[in-house]
Amino acid sequence: MSDKHSIHETNSAYWNTRGNEVLKAIVLPQYGAFISEEHHRLFGDVSGKKLLEIGCGNGESLQYHAQRNASELWGIDLSSQQIKRAEQHLKAQGLFAKLICSPMEEECGLPEAYFDFVYSIYAIGWTTDLEGTFRRVASYLKKDGVFIFSWSHPIHRCVAEENNQFVWKKSYFDDTWHPVFPDAVQGELTLADRTLSTYINTLARAGFIIEQMIEENDEDLLPADGGASDLAKRAKMFPVTFVLKARKL
Ligand SMILES: C[S@@+](CC[C@H](N)C(=O)[O-])C[C@H]1O[C@@H](n2cnc3c(N)ncnc32)[C@H](O)[C@@H]1O
Repeated sequence: MSDKHSIHETNSAYWNTRGNEVLKAIVLPQYGAFISEEHHRLFGDVSGKKLLEIGCGNGESLQYHAQRNASELWGIDLSSQQIKRAEQHLKAQGLFAKLICSPMEEECGLPEAYFDFVYSIYAIGWTTDLEGTFRRVASYLKKDGVFIFSWSHPIHRCVAEENNQFVWKKSYFDDTWHPVFPDAVQGELTLADRTLSTYINTLARAGFIIEQMIEENDEDLLPADGGASDLAKRAKMFPVTFVLKARKL
């Protein structure tokens, strides 16, 4: 199960066939359901900047930066179909990005010391090699370049709801690869849940300093009654998303 090749095979088959039908796209300005770039301004002004998105999915986050006058946009994704969707989406908006179909863990011809920003919205956690991926990200960035990513909060991954109560369902420290089934009908993904300290310490080892971490919700995005959706109910009690902003030393 923890073999990189079989994980990529399973996960690219899912994204190639199911795309965002079941797992809805999470795209900028949203970092997750209740955290937004509009509120936190982690990127600031991207005009004239070169940006790379890791796991670019359908291309909508690239579109967000294109409309804010980024000078160059690049995206990579494991799934050839996601790359095709991104290409078509951007083309339909009259926009362009250099898109590469590749696992983020592998050398894929991206230029080194080139980008002002590397970012990822709900894709980094799919890597089979966090340390290698962060080292690659560092190599793509210019000195003082910024890496921003969001991912599912590991506490959110540990908690289930049973009989109107939240219950702790698995160890926070369990980082083994396991199958997940987002769709009751068909489609399997393979995922490992890592602790927050794993993300932070791995960033440090790859040559980054952390500038900001966000776990809290933007109050204006959370429905006031808290019961409007299962996710909102969870988000009132514990973080469902985290965002990290780090700078390459
Ligand atoms: C949840 S989506 C995130 C992308 C976009 N923000 C969205 O919500 O659609 C995850 C994306 O990561 C890609 N992905 C999964 N594993 C990957 C890997 N090892 N390397 C590069 N991309 C990967 C998938 O193909 C998918 O497009």
